[in-house]
Parts: sequence; structure tokens; C-alpha cells
Amino acid sequence: MTLKMIKNGSELSLDDCQFSELNKFCSDRNIQLRFEWINGQFWLHSDNPNENPIGIEVDKILTKHEEFFKKSSIHKELLARAVGVKAAYRPKILDLTAGLLGDSLLMLSFGCEVWAVERHPVIRFLIQSALQNSTHKSLLNLHFLESDALSVLSENPVVDTVYFDPMFEDANDKASPKKEMRIFRNLVGSDEDAIKVLEKAIDLGPKRLVVKRPRLSQELGKKPSVQYIGKSTRYDVYFSL
Ligand SMILES: C[S@@+](CC[C@H](N)C(=O)[O-])C[C@H]1O[C@@H](n2cnc3c(N)ncnc32)[C@H](O)[C@@H]1O
Repeated sequence: MTLKMIKNGSELSLDDCQFSELNKFCSDRNIQLRFEWINGQFWLHSDNPNENPIGIEVDKILTKHEEFFKKSSIHKELLARAVGVKAAYRPKILDLTAGLLGDSLLMLSFGCEVWAVERHPVIRFLIQSALQNSTHKSLLNLHFLESDALSVLSENPVVDTVYFDPMFEDANDKASPKKEMRIFRNLVGSDEDAIKVLEKAIDLGPKRLVVKRPRLSQELGKKPSVQYIGKSTRYDVYFSL
């Protein structure tokens, strides 16, 4: 059996239609995945027992951000400055690469409305499962799109900022993935169509396009209008494309 879904210590039937896409994904690639229902959502176990399972604790993360921004200014955040948050202005953001929702949830915490796109069936399942029982009020501003960025962009969405954080490495990417990201990286692999998506995002002509890159890596496309450089991350920002 390549897919195992566990709840309260027992294996669930894979006939349930909510698992059919996952089941097909595992059978087609002959890979083994084990999910377990813990605290109201499914978590993906690693094949290495020393590694924590992957899951997104949406309410916990949003509450943590909320508490943090009661004491610290949103405007100090590099990501907030990169996506164009201003004193009385919150951009509408299309996040083309939702992943484990880290950046989307942070942008929601800035008070932005976010459309988050994810194409990978396993990551989509984790997102859906995490969102199902989450209740934080900021989630009213989150729209999760189970799709590919190229399809979403071809519908000419009306947003202020397009945000793009692909898994795309170049020779300067020295950092090895954090332990907890290993399963995620193994599963998703490299987003080889990143340049194509970038070009399509440029064609859309948003007020801002923000590309997240490792600090020392090459730009994905042409020279950005401005760069926001953090300890390990860099945001390449393109204005009025
Ligand atoms: C580096 S991760 C994004 C991490 C995310 N920013 C976060 O904070 O958790 C890239 C994610 O984008 C997804 N992705 C990459 N290219 C995509 C595309 N063209 N359409 C939809 N999803 C895409 C991948 O499947 C992966 O889950």
C-alpha cells in the first residue's frame, strides 16, 4: 500500500473520495506516504522517525503573528515593505506559490487580502485539511486556489501585488534545506517552470511583482527595481510592469 491514512490509531479506507487524488499521486509515482489525523487535521509523516510530521497550524500561526504585531510595527517587516504595505494601504495580493502558507499567513496578518495558489496535490491536501477546522478571523481574507499559477494568471486576476516564491535553485544557493523542510523539498522538487511563470506574471502587469530568493542567489529574471535584503532571504521587487 503506497498511501496510508491513519486516524485514532486505525487505517482509514482509501475509498473515501477526499483521498482519491492523493492515492493516485502515490500509485502513479510508486511512493509511500503516511498521513495521520492529529488535533483536527492531517499531518504528513516523514520516512525518518527523527523528523517531525508536516502540517500547518493555521490558527496557532495567525494568533502568534497577531500577538507579535500588537508589540511590533508591521512596517518593520521586510516582507510588508516588499509587497507594498503602507500606513493606510493594504495591497490585494496574489501568492502564486502557497506552499505551507508561511508567507500567505504573514501577509494576511498585515491585513492584506490574499489569493494563494498551490498546484501540488500533497501540499494542497495539507492546506485544505489545515483550513477546514481553522477559525481565525483573518481567514475571511484568504482565498485558496487549487490550481497552477499559469492558469490563474491567464484569467487576468485583478490584484495589486503578485508574489512569487518558487523552489528554484542556482549555483549560489549554498544553504542546505532545514531538516523539517527536507520532506517538503523531496516531495515538491524544483519548480522548473519558474521562469515561464515569472514571464506570465510580468505580462499581467501588476503594480508590483515580488520574487523571493535566497539572499545570495541570482535574480530569476531581469534586474529588479528594488531589493529588500534580509539575513537569508531577498525580495526582488519589480514596479508597474
Ligand atoms: C518555495 S515553496 C513556497 C513556500 C511558501 N512561500 C511558504 O511560505 O510556505 C513553493 C511552492 O509553490 C508551489 N508552486 C510552484 N510553482 C507553482 C505553480 N506554477 N503553480 C502553483 N503552485 C506552484 C510548489 O508546489 C510549492 O509548494
